[in-house]
Amino acid sequence: MEGLARLEYRGYDSAGVALIAGEHVVTAKRAGKLANLVAALAQESLPESGTAIGHTRWATHGAPTDENAHPHLGGEDGKLALIHNGIIENFHGLRAALIEEGIHFQSETDTEVVAQLLARSYDKVGDLTEAMRQIVGELKGAFTLLAVHADQPGVVVGARRNSPLVVGIGDGETYMGSDVAAFIGYTREALELAQDQIVTITTAGATIINFDGTPGQGKAYHVDWDAAAAQKGGFPNFMAKEINDQPHAVADTLLGRTNEAGALVLDELRIDEAELRAVDKIVIIACGTAAYAGMVAKYAIEHWTRIPCEVELAHEFRYRDPVVNARTLVVAISQSGETMDTLMAVKHARVLGARVIAICNTHGSTIPRESDAALYTHAGPEIAVASTKAFLAQITACYILGLYLAQLRGGTYADEAQAVMRDLGETPAKIQTVLDGLDRVREIARFMVDTRSVLFLGRHVGYPVALEGALKLKELAYIHAEGFAAGELKHGPIALIEAGQPVFVIVPSPHSEHGLHDKVVSSIQEIRARGARTIVIAEEGDEDVVPFADEIIRVPVTPTLLAPLLTVVPLQVFACELASAKGLDVDQPRNLAKSVTVE
Ligand code: F6R
Repeated sequence: MEGLARLEYRGYDSAGVALIAGEHVVTAKRAGKLANLVAALAQESLPESGTAIGHTRWATHGAPTDENAHPHLGGEDGKLALIHNGIIENFHGLRAALIEEGIHFQSETDTEVVAQLLARSYDKVGDLTEAMRQIVGELKGAFTLLAVHADQPGVVVGARRNSPLVVGIGDGETYMGSDVAAFIGYTREALELAQDQIVTITTAGATIINFDGTPGQGKAYHVDWDAAAAQKGGFPNFMAKEINDQPHAVADTLLGRTNEAGALVLDELRIDEAELRAVDKIVIIACGTAAYAGMVAKYAIEHWTRIPCEVELAHEFRYRDPVVNARTLVVAISQSGETMDTLMAVKHARVLGARVIAICNTHGSTIPRESDAALYTHAGPEIAVASTKAFLAQITACYILGLYLAQLRGGTYADEAQAVMRDLGETPAKIQTVLDGLDRVREIARFMVDTRSVLFLGRHVGYPVALEGALKLKELAYIHAEGFAAGELKHGPIALIEAGQPVFVIVPSPHSEHGLHDKVVSSIQEIRARGARTIVIAEEGDEDVVPFADEIIRVPVTPTLLAPLLTVVPLQVFACELASAKGLDVDQPRNLAKSVTVE
């Protein structure tokens, strides 16, 4: 139950467990959050057992009801139980064939179809691992499966294709989980699996085979954070804690990336330097917040490297005909490393001949494994569904990559790389200053608890920050929010402005070289003249905004390209506070899940 609680951020429509007790499999499942299952088990406890599987669900096939909750039983004797993440795309056909054979289904899920197939296979071969091996070939789609059978107590069999599964190796105990958080309280020694593998665990350890039956291997690694990192640490929710973690997230991501002479060294990029020098186009692929980190990075990467850089939503990339070839560098950004849309785009890019670098926060996850190289962010576990510290760490990692490419290729900005790295080194302290001065933002948020719509404006690197501010508010507080490039206002969106409309404006530094500061101040005047209530995020000492701002939130002076690492912080805190004031669960907003492992 502790493990499930740690994984609940991945899905929280329903929860269930199955355990082997004597000759039977016993299950308990409940719709709703894990707390409902905990309450049910407090009324009627389960028998003791040393072998169990458990699941928290994010519904795909079938509503989040008790019946559709996992685990699902298989076989007429109900001796087999199975849980599943992902989608079995051909489940309709399989289900119809099983019904024809006389099998009755209790739920509407694709999972129960696999449970029945596996039970049928077990009845033929009498061994759960072999039974699993025989059915995985019949399944289309992405899946992680875990199964137990009452006739093989002390054994759990897992299988994965394009969906996460890691193994934890304890002392006389072995675990599997969608991520290491599930077992981090018991062991920090983990095994990363490859695609298309089946793993059988007992108290003695794990045995791995490939789907074709040949022996397989896992990659052992030590998890560099502990159970305390996956706890709230005195904060009311994970999101507040993770916002507060941000100075560390940036500092840790910068750590060890330069040598004594101050030059960038990225040993982990196992791509030939000559190939990186030859790159003539960069395409960043990502979803949601990670894509906004990519949009910020585009400004910096193009500026430093002079290589054209596109940013594309991963789910769009694959379905058009992108111009990508062996000289294209694709950068896939993903906190979880499991986002299916991004994973599929990575695979597509590699088929087209591109080199792919993953920027990822999760060791042992699929996207780095499927890429040519990985640059890890070191933000620590991000548990709140809405991404915060990963966003800052992703921007930092993209900047490191951009500066490294600039250094490799020489040219104007190669010399600047060290200076920018120094500026980046000063950023964690500045983020802390922002965090320490947000009481007024919290007050504004509480005051705005009944607000129906909020707009966010930014320009240049402030534009993706505006988009991110709007996304945070939508997903956490369920308030209609939109982000715009401030220059776009007069091309349409200004029609939305009416008396009292709250608008956040992210103002560039008055010292920035592109001179956009004055243009944004003009935009503030234009919307104020039409009745907007302006909440302005501006640099310390910027007095030009004072006459036109209903509220001013100050951030420390910082170079233009690094400003997003500061200006986004008040927007995160605003969304978190407003959602809390509305009584909403900020860590687990409705309809969402942390790892979107389905397309
Ligand atoms: C928003 C949020 C999502 C993720 C997106 C990508 O707060 O968290 O938009 O950023 O689902 O997830 P990853 O980075 O895990 O690929």
